[in-house]
Amino acid sequence: MPAEPAVVEARGVWREFGGVVALRDVDLAVREGEIVALIGPNGAGKTTLLNVLSCVLPPTRGQVLFRGRPLPCRPHRAARAGLTRTFQDLQLFGSLSALDNVLVAREARGKGAVPRGDADRFLETVGLARRARDHPDALPFGQRRLLELARALATEPMLLLLDEPAAGLSTPERTALAERLCGLRDVGVTVLLVEHDLELALGVADRVVVLDQGVKIADLPPDAVRGDERVIAAYLGVA
Ligand SMILES: Nc1ncnc2c1ncn2[C@@H]1O[C@H](COP(=O)(O)OP(=O)(O)OP(=O)(O)O)[C@@H](O)[C@H]1O
Ligand SMILES: [Mg+2]
Repeated sequence: MPAEPAVVEARGVWREFGGVVALRDVDLAVREGEIVALIGPNGAGKTTLLNVLSCVLPPTRGQVLFRGRPLPCRPHRAARAGLTRTFQDLQLFGSLSALDNVLVAREARGKGAVPRGDADRFLETVGLARRARDHPDALPFGQRRLLELARALATEPMLLLLDEPAAGLSTPERTALAERLCGLRDVGVTVLLVEHDLELALGVADRVVVLDQGVKIADLPPDAVRGDERVIAAYLGVA
């Protein structure tokens, strides 16, 4: 029997900006239920790859497939197909409660209204059930990030793309986020996570893909990353 097609797959993807080659012939497949971390030094092309996979940017060359099929590259089409992306800057509504922020995110993605009780479970998944009535301003920064994650989960994504969700968080906040990301495995969400914090990325991921200067240099289980010579060389800037 043929294997299920990947949830999302990049095949021979190139992306150039003027003279800069941000992605060079990159292949990457994320399969259902996997948590894949995408790591690499600054400027490696991680955000560009996320943008290409979520149809924010078309590839210069190569193909992106969703469940084995190409999708016209427009972000709203990608959203409809079940790709949910969180951005670095928080996109919360200050005048709404945490719960209403979740409800609005869900409705905006055309998922339809859900009973408030059902919406609570998205807050529960990220550990914010007790803050349902609070407005985002009343939450510490780390919890606002978790609320953004709850909003993303409420769209019931086929694939969740996270770009540096731990940026700007304190150490305890990172630990709380890591726990919640590990918990996503239990709810069966497929995740592609870009993360600078190696410890967090390796702790959460089933598989780690390493980019360096636009090239995929490794695709490894987390426990093999720290000992991999290509990865060490990329991080130390050694040729
Ligand atoms: N819109 C753009 N216009 C021009 N060059 C760009 C653009 N976006 C990215 N680049 C270039 O492409 C390369 C890859 O950038 P990208 O942001 O994907 O890296 P990154 O791995 O996400 O880095 P960081 O860890 O710093 O977030 C860099 O050289 C960057 O300057
Ligand atoms: Mg980036």
